[in-house]
Amino acid sequence: MKKKIFITGASSGIGEYLAYAYAKKGYFIGLAARREDKLIQVASKCFELGGEAKCYTLDVTNNESCQMNIDDFISLPGEIDTIYANAGVGAPDQLNTGDSTAMNRILLTNIMGVTNTVLPFIPYFKSNKKGKVAVISSVASFRGLAHHSAYSGSKAAVRNFCQGWNNALHKYNISFSAICPGFVSSEMTDNQDNPQPFKISTNIAVDKIIKAVENRKKVYIFPWQVKLFIIPIMKWAPDWLTRLLKI
Ligand SMILES: NC(=O)c1ccc[n+]([C@@H]2O[C@H](COP(=O)([O-])OP(=O)(O)OC[C@H]3O[C@@H](n4cnc5c(N)ncnc54)[C@H](OP(=O)(O)O)[C@@H]3O)[C@@H](O)[C@H]2O)c1
Repeated sequence: MKKKIFITGASSGIGEYLAYAYAKKGYFIGLAARREDKLIQVASKCFELGGEAKCYTLDVTNNESCQMNIDDFISLPGEIDTIYANAGVGAPDQLNTGDSTAMNRILLTNIMGVTNTVLPFIPYFKSNKKGKVAVISSVASFRGLAHHSAYSGSKAAVRNFCQGWNNALHKYNISFSAICPGFVSSEMTDNQDNPQPFKISTNIAVDKIIKAVENRKKVYIFPWQVKLFIIPIMKWAPDWLTRLLKI
């Protein structure tokens, strides 16, 4: 039976390269994001690489649109193997403006965007008695970041959801992997001039992500240098040190 993969945020970066990796294995891929033109380009490359794809132009903050598009994806022939709740945005909190709009947009996309993506698949996975769900969290989830606390907080929230969901749905053979990348090359990171230690290519990142999800890792932090050197700082460094390091 044809295997299906659903990916949000498939129009660029990690989501786009995840789609290519699965296309090479011959999967049918549901490509979801807001930019239709980009999705169409990604879909045509998926076909070239030996896969099949269908574009779903949607905003993950819109619950009804997610439900409708996911219902369509579920109804297509084949078995859903894995879904990736990958769509996300990052931007400064803009604390000094006194306006919560910027923070709320990040929280809505990165938190409700995940629930709007994952929950519509749960009845399917439960009745199929298997399924893999990957949620793209971040290394940033391990500490409240100065000026990016909406981002770090949203990523902590979804990592926490995965832990709860794993325990709630373990008996149905549904696994949830909270993926915590360090810096990965993408539209989100490539045009910034902040230091990006241990940054890795999108291709290398997706290979690591897919392996972790296939092995049903509950939390996957990469690359190894980040796990070894950055995570301890994120978890245990005193605030004066993180202020000094501008984390
Ligand atoms: N790159 C890194 O270093 C890094 C590190 C840790 C975690 N992450 C996480 O990895 C994920 C992918 O990011 P990326 O690095 O690949 O950045 P990216 O190239 O900017 O990709 C973000 C994707 O999310 C989609 N998206 C954003 N808002 C959306 C919305 N409201 N509805 C639907 N789709 C939406 C974008 O598509 P449209 O604009 O077309 O909608 C785009 O496809 C994000 O969750 C990010 O937080 C990235």
